Amino acid sequence: MTIDSLKDLYIAELQEARSFEGQIANALGGFADRASDGALREALAGDRPESVRHGERITALLERHGADPRAHEDQTMKAILAEAGKWAAEIDDPAVRDAALIASVQRIQHYEIAAYGALVAWAREEGLDDAETLAEILEEEKAADEKLSALAGERVNEGAS
Ligand SMILES: [Fe+2]
Repeated sequence: MTIDSLKDLYIAELQEARSFEGQIANALGGFADRASDGALREALAGDRPESVRHGERITALLERHGADPRAHEDQTMKAILAEAGKWAAEIDDPAVRDAALIASVQRIQHYEIAAYGALVAWAREEGLDDAETLAEILEEEKAADEKLSALAGERVNEGAS
């Protein structure tokens, strides 16, 4: 698809979001398995169904626009997840690995927050009621990020140092 308008750009970014949610959902179980702190493991495992739900909501929006939900594969998320997986596999010390896992997942979260921030703004600009759904997802991404910041601050970083 050629991108000639803000609406085209919006649809393409929505397709990227569908892609990254799917990639995250596939990766989170493995990250949770590599976490040693119980609360961290629970948080990562709990984020997985949320990613699945986000992917479903984005797919529904794309279908309403008559756009192919599978049209793009987000290469940025692919790279972020590859790095995260490498750390998760290579770091032997459980507490240090937990610190790395939190940093990786927050990097993922921040990328999602940036993407959904743009999507909300563009949907509003275009007068689309998609904006409401996207703003809800954006709030959930922010809440997940804050939960991880709290875990890092309260337990994990201290254990790693
Ligand atoms: Fe998400």
